[in-house]
Amino acid sequence: MEIKNKPVKPKGKLGILTPGMGAVATTFIAGVESVRRGLAKPIGSLTQMGTIRLGKRTDNRTPAIKDFIPLAGLDDLVFGGWDIFEDNCYEAAMKAGVLEKELLYGVKDFLEGIKPMKAVFDQKYVKKLSGEWVKKGDNWYDLAQQLMDDMKNFKEENGCDRLVIVWCASTEIFMKPTAAHETIEAFEKAMKENSPEIAPSMVYAYAALKMGIPFANGAPNLTIDIPALMALARENSAPICGKDFKTGQTLMKTILAPGLKARMIGLGGWFSTNILGNRDGEVLDDPESFKTKEESKLSVLEHILQPELYPALYDNFYHKVRINYYPPRGDTKEGWDNIDLFGWLGYPMQIKIDFLCRDSILAAPIVLDLALFMDLAQRIGFNGVQEWLSFYYKSPQHAPELYPEHDLFIQLMKLKNTLRYIQGEEMITHLGQEYYD
Ligand SMILES: NC(=O)c1ccc[n+]([C@@H]2O[C@H](COP(=O)([O-])OP(=O)(O)OC[C@H]3O[C@@H](n4cnc5c(N)ncnc54)[C@H](O)[C@@H]3O)[C@@H](O)[C@H]2O)c1
Repeated sequence: MEIKNKPVKPKGKLGILTPGMGAVATTFIAGVESVRRGLAKPIGSLTQMGTIRLGKRTDNRTPAIKDFIPLAGLDDLVFGGWDIFEDNCYEAAMKAGVLEKELLYGVKDFLEGIKPMKAVFDQKYVKKLSGEWVKKGDNWYDLAQQLMDDMKNFKEENGCDRLVIVWCASTEIFMKPTAAHETIEAFEKAMKENSPEIAPSMVYAYAALKMGIPFANGAPNLTIDIPALMALARENSAPICGKDFKTGQTLMKTILAPGLKARMIGLGGWFSTNILGNRDGEVLDDPESFKTKEESKLSVLEHILQPELYPALYDNFYHKVRINYYPPRGDTKEGWDNIDLFGWLGYPMQIKIDFLCRDSILAAPIVLDLALFMDLAQRIGFNGVQEWLSFYYKSPQHAPELYPEHDLFIQLMKLKNTLRYIQGEEMITHLGQEYYD
């Protein structure tokens, strides 16, 4: 990707808008404000906690990423969004039940001031939800114009210099690309005809990209994974990336699987099941929304293990993913993995994982990092699909002619090398060249 503008420290405020102001979005917003007030630390965020090695190992140059690359500062962030429920962010965060009441009391005044705008929504796409805080319009195209007005007004009213949009709304039903998604013209025609092939998430993405605003997709929805919106992103110089934040069990899978493959250990099967009781779990209890999630979760192992290259190790391994809605657990999910392995001479072994994870705690720093990196991408003139942000995704969006990269460690190397490239530093391949220098 070509760097069109030299990266400089951004001026003014960055507005981060999230369609969906539920568990993930409110945990993110409350978290940033808590960090700003010195009440907590931004754990899990690469932009806030990470470092980057530059030059040779003997050079001892390892700045913090946020000192190395000119990202927007936390004090310059402003938050807003849309939801089908009218609750302000404080009420929504209390209902989500992710953060403790004491922490939320500490930022109550701030959160109460953030009220969602009316959503573009149709229950056909999220069967388990219904809400009243929804826009009315003649068709999808009209609704997109209303969203664009929201974006303009938000920017003006909050004195923002730039906007970024991160989809944090519910998972929609499974959809496949069709002719309506092929070109911008076909897509706009379908919007005007109120076609069922257009989903609400696509309307938000269209509105954002039409205005040249970066759009990151946190759910497994098809949304921007269609030629029409990829073309619109390029045409209007807007970066896009997706899809499905990499948290919980899939994060563990993409940490473990590369290790097994590195040691040429075979895999007979990987069974993942979990219980969760938040609204996301309720939405995923619908088979059509679950299918969208399942597709996203299943692709990971195939790509990392490359059975076509290692048939003796990975041909026909059994991979199953289950999600069970279990209300008593709320957002504190429990995920179990049973992994059947085989080693030397085919001898079987097992690994059991019991991950008592908190989904939104793992997702919130991803929202922050994506917003800051997408803003950077746009300022320097990167547009279209941002593959270097695959690190954050279960189903990384990629160029049509390439396969997605799922290995967390390759993803991290790619991300850091992109940052080095942006700042004119030498890329690091870990080839150990410095031994011979
Ligand atoms: N929590 C995680 O770790 C994680 C990981 C990967 C992906 N995700 C995805 O992120 C999304 C958010 O997760 P969550 O736990 O915050 O869910 P949530 O149910 O708490 O919040 C989603 C919010 O989106 C709203 N919404 C639904 N459709 C909308 C629309 N068309 N416009 C505006 N608002 C709409 C809902 O009313 C709800 O408040 C889900 O799609 C989930 O699958 C979450």
